[in-house]
Amino acid sequence: MNIIGLSAFYHESACCLLQDGRLVAAVAEERFSRVKHDARVPVQAFRYCLEAGGLSLPDVDVVAYYESPQKKLSRQLWAGVPEGDEELAWLDPHQPERAIRERLGYDGPILFFDHHQSHAASAFYFSGFRDAAILTVDGVGEWATTTYGRGEEAALEVFEKVHFPHSLGLLYATITSYLGFRVNNGEYKVMGLAPYGEPRFVDQIRQLIADGPGGQYTLAMDYFDFARGRRMFSPALCELFDAPPRVPESEITPFHCDVARSVQAVLEEMLMAKVRYLAGRVDSANLCMAGGVALNCVANGRIVCEGPFERLFVQPAAGDAGGCLGAAALAHIQKTGQRHSDESLARIFLGPRFSADDVASMLAATGLPAHDFRHREADLLDAVADRLARNQVVGWFHGAMEFGPRALGARSILANPLDPGIRDRLNAMIKKREAFRPFAPSVLAGHAAEHFDLDHPSPFMLETCRVVSPLALPCITHVDGSARPQTVERAHNPRFAALLEAFYRRTGCPMLVNTSFNVRGEPIVCTPADALLCMGRSGLDALVLEDFLIDRAMLPDTWEPLLAAWHSRRRSAFGRSKSAIEENLYTFV
Ligand SMILES: [Fe+2]
Repeated sequence: MNIIGLSAFYHESACCLLQDGRLVAAVAEERFSRVKHDARVPVQAFRYCLEAGGLSLPDVDVVAYYESPQKKLSRQLWAGVPEGDEELAWLDPHQPERAIRERLGYDGPILFFDHHQSHAASAFYFSGFRDAAILTVDGVGEWATTTYGRGEEAALEVFEKVHFPHSLGLLYATITSYLGFRVNNGEYKVMGLAPYGEPRFVDQIRQLIADGPGGQYTLAMDYFDFARGRRMFSPALCELFDAPPRVPESEITPFHCDVARSVQAVLEEMLMAKVRYLAGRVDSANLCMAGGVALNCVANGRIVCEGPFERLFVQPAAGDAGGCLGAAALAHIQKTGQRHSDESLARIFLGPRFSADDVASMLAATGLPAHDFRHREADLLDAVADRLARNQVVGWFHGAMEFGPRALGARSILANPLDPGIRDRLNAMIKKREAFRPFAPSVLAGHAAEHFDLDHPSPFMLETCRVVSPLALPCITHVDGSARPQTVERAHNPRFAALLEAFYRRTGCPMLVNTSFNVRGEPIVCTPADALLCMGRSGLDALVLEDFLIDRAMLPDTWEPLLAAWHSRRRSAFGRSKSAIEENLYTFV
């Protein structure tokens, strides 16, 4: 049974392959196209899934699509077409099926599931729980923005929904926009900014949203303009705060920090109330969460610590890309009557992998020098740990790429958390991003409790907790004393765990700073060539490509101009219109 799960045409498109109940592959299109949050037909992700499963097109039994285009259209029509929008192609409910037929060449059965049903299934059926309460929260799917459900064995029931325009995700997105960050991208910046502020605007934010009976709540729509306009907020919001919106990239003032802190506080307050409501409706010790708001790891940390449930599973690709997992799981049940698996999703390394021989061929073709550690893993790890201990910043490329927004030791930039200057260096030279944003640590699971107030594994970096370490760890400790650790076990990522052990033997510190392997505004690297390009464009001191190690000093002088030319060529190709790229233009990139 070969089931392809597919999400597209909204925020981030992605594909996964469920093969005889085993999740074999999952990847977002952006990693191939190099266009961040690429929502176009996931042609390359689809091809990758076929390749990973050793399949050709006729082997696919069913394609499971993650939302209902007809239901979505009714909401789109209700909201109306923004003035001046003459491009109405997005209102076509047949677009997904046509794309699957024409662009992917697939002519077999297609199953459509509701957006939040897919989110709910992506959490419950991959949680390993036999029973659970299920909460999904995002901006909006078709009509639903929040759903409450229960799962038991193969059965999943959604028993209550909150409907658009009332939406916790859109409340947070509106404040994200007001604070000058990009909607659907900058929400985690608001979360990162919040601890720098005071919650002095909580009363104003509470005027934006009113709690309702059961799972319900309503937004005060006078303050919002997203339902029918071209902006997220109305002038009334600026009057409420008595301040204009922040101009993007302009200075961040204490006022902006205070607004961020206040919206985070109200989001947590609402989520805690709704989680308690759900606990009253569903007799289970387990909670599953998905939807973009489930990526708010600060709120998740509170739900774990203060909430009524004993266990929490957040699906690591909780946003719309991960909806493809739920659609595939639902299709499996529809086809077989059985849940695809009773096991918890323990690892999320489901993307492309490249062998050491692949890397050797690329290096030979480019003529780039590198240290060759093939068949000498211990020596490689010693060399990398040595560089990290000397405060070098290392690009780490190993094994199959992660699915979801977090780098978990397959496509990561690593650094020494004991280095007091590393945060500023990473922000300024490597990530080229805002100085206020904290970095996350990856810690050996067996040592986690010595450094973090954490009594359970956190393999996906989806919750925050208090730092209780005897070590000074300024880079990974946020201003409020919290961190967002990933616990690393040998069973899930042996080489990454071995690297942490090698670093621990040298320094007495069982953790590394782990940030995603990309520069600002670009998707996480996918291929060895992407990683080399990223090294050329950032201040990485060294790069590990499987069994090869390249020090910056080894790169020839001609390397950086060459990379710059390569990059601009690639950008200009993707900067053209979709039809030029996909249909008419012969391109080498
Ligand atoms: Fe969603």
